[in-house]
Amino acid sequence: MSTELLIEDHGTTASEFDVETGRALTLLMCPPKLYDVHYVINPWMRGNLGKSNRERAMRQWQRLHDVLARLARVVLIEPVAGSPDMVFTANAGLARAGVVALSSFFYRERQDEEPAFRRWFEEAGYHVVDVARATPFEGEGDALFSADGTRLWVGFGTRTSVESHAALRGLWDAEVCSLHLVDERFYHLDTCFAPLSDGSVMYFPEAFDAASLAMIEQFYMPEQRIVVSEADALRFACNAVNLDRTIVLNCISDELAMTLRERGFDVVQVELDEFLKAGGAAKCLVMRLTPELHSGHSESGFSAEDLIAIEDLHGAHNYHPLDVVIEQASGAWVWDVEGRRYLDCLAAYSAVNQGHCHPAILRAMVEQAQKVTLTSRAFRNEQLPLLLRDLHELTGYAMALPMNSGAEAVETALKAARKWGEVVKGVAHDRTEIIVCANNFHGRTIAIVGFSTDAQYRAGFGPFPAGFRNVPFGDIDALRAAITPQTCAFLVEPIQGEAGVIVPPEGYLREAARLCREHNVLLIVDEIQSGLGRTGKLFAYQHDEITPDVVIVGKALSGGFYPVSAVLSSREVLGVFQPGDHGSTFGGNPLACAVARAALKVIVEERLAERSAELGAYALARLQQMRSRHVVSVRGKGLWLAIELNTAARPLCEALRDRGVLCKETHETVIRIAPPLVIGKEDLDWGLERIERVLQED
Ligand SMILES: Cc1ncc(COP(=O)(O)O)c(C=O)c1O
Repeated sequence: MSTELLIEDHGTTASEFDVETGRALTLLMCPPKLYDVHYVINPWMRGNLGKSNRERAMRQWQRLHDVLARLARVVLIEPVAGSPDMVFTANAGLARAGVVALSSFFYRERQDEEPAFRRWFEEAGYHVVDVARATPFEGEGDALFSADGTRLWVGFGTRTSVESHAALRGLWDAEVCSLHLVDERFYHLDTCFAPLSDGSVMYFPEAFDAASLAMIEQFYMPEQRIVVSEADALRFACNAVNLDRTIVLNCISDELAMTLRERGFDVVQVELDEFLKAGGAAKCLVMRLTPELHSGHSESGFSAEDLIAIEDLHGAHNYHPLDVVIEQASGAWVWDVEGRRYLDCLAAYSAVNQGHCHPAILRAMVEQAQKVTLTSRAFRNEQLPLLLRDLHELTGYAMALPMNSGAEAVETALKAARKWGEVVKGVAHDRTEIIVCANNFHGRTIAIVGFSTDAQYRAGFGPFPAGFRNVPFGDIDALRAAITPQTCAFLVEPIQGEAGVIVPPEGYLREAARLCREHNVLLIVDEIQSGLGRTGKLFAYQHDEITPDVVIVGKALSGGFYPVSAVLSSREVLGVFQPGDHGSTFGGNPLACAVARAALKVIVEERLAERSAELGAYALARLQQMRSRHVVSVRGKGLWLAIELNTAARPLCEALRDRGVLCKETHETVIRIAPPLVIGKEDLDWGLERIERVLQED
């Protein structure tokens, strides 16, 4: 493959999150199109003149780029002829908060890079500061912020002059601390010193003089100091790109990798030996444009604690959320107000199967919002017929009735079934019965909680509507026994979600469908959580090869943008509704319909059901192999898994949150794992690794 092609394929901005606001971390890289070792300005270059292999360098750089582009937004600068070291963007300057302290290179050989970088920063809108024209300063290669941003460690003695340090004072609100580099092999500070996001530092002590070591030891407590061996230092272990909990670096020893993993870091090794020939590795190839030094405040100006306090003060306490305050999201990832990144393993109870803020759904939503959002059903709108047709073509059901929340759609199905019972089946007036299952979850309206078997869901909310019978889930004999001539419907979740991802015995649904047909009872399946790809098929009932009479959908019908739900059925059932029988001001509005159409298209085009089947089978097998004294069983279908524990799930969910994985307990002892279906295999592995680690801890 030619180098040009590689760049064409991957060289543009890759990460999808927050391109607009620039709040997320942005990195500057330069493709090694012109990379070469053709002068000697550090000991690494000696003996390597003309010996670099550009094709190989390109492949290694591309891999680094691709790894980083999953973690941050990566922007590129084109290299200029005669500047082979431009690939080492870290040396171009030090950027933070719209200001860049531009480098003035020590060696003549690199000085032609300066105008190219200056132009780039000016065009990008940076305030460019010339640190010290007469005194060399080699940018981020020699200047590194501590994790909390209060301290700027700056190297001198090999490249950057100590005089230039004064010019950095006052540029940002950080104390400048000078470190004397005494080993010519570690000629830039970032080759021997790496402040990490957990407040620790990874460094090679022999590269510093005694006074500098004393200063490092004064600032970092012993448990915060990760001393790197000479062998690892020579592999450029300290030349690491640390983004939140991930450390990306050249290949290192197993011992060091283990040390970092034990501290909770995800270590990604990318072979970069082609760049070692010029004295650089991962960190040298990357410049941070917006270091993730975070103010600790959201864009609204409030801290996470403030926001939690406001919510607790002014909001009803009908939930017990994990204390993570999410500010933005993309795909399978979310970011909190402090800029920490988490893998979302709940996907808003399967409402974001398509991933957070899916661009195609967002586009549809914005375009429709600019045209018309709400007409009410008093008038017709252009989008409703198209959604109804899309639903028909996708599911085969002749008719649909759109609503908003899931509970409303369930209510709609219950009303349809009762009226069908009276009008079509001929049950006496006000005598219809509907069979439901123990441990069901269909929403929170009075009628729905009235037939819940969870005492808390009902307590204090009665009296409830009559006409419901409860049978154990999965028990076909109990269902058979409960059917009477007045029974108009059997309402069931194909897999019980809130109950803890309970999969019924093999053949249960098929037999239930047969019984319903035999007794002229409508089979209503609630696919609000199980549907639209979650279990590895478009609908969970398809695993049993049945055709229910009524299907209820919600959640992912909008990809998480907007509450959209619907009841799908035949003309015979939905035909019972006459004008005035039922309705909702927002049900079927054009914005909802445009969003739902885009959301369905994503499910089909991105083959989310197939992805769910494939990744779900992999994750289930992997978790079932896990040895943990806390785990009783692991079950599920598709990317909808539950880990049944013999201990409280909440503390483990909190431990997972602290490791960057968001899960929520359901009932006391179950952790549900249900990431957005767009999740990549590598991201899934990242999450599973953390889940395994937390569950295997004492
Ligand atoms: C199976 C099932 N039905 C109905 C609902 C209720 O949906 P909503 O919260 O949108 O009212 C849920 C929500 O979790 C559900 O899982």
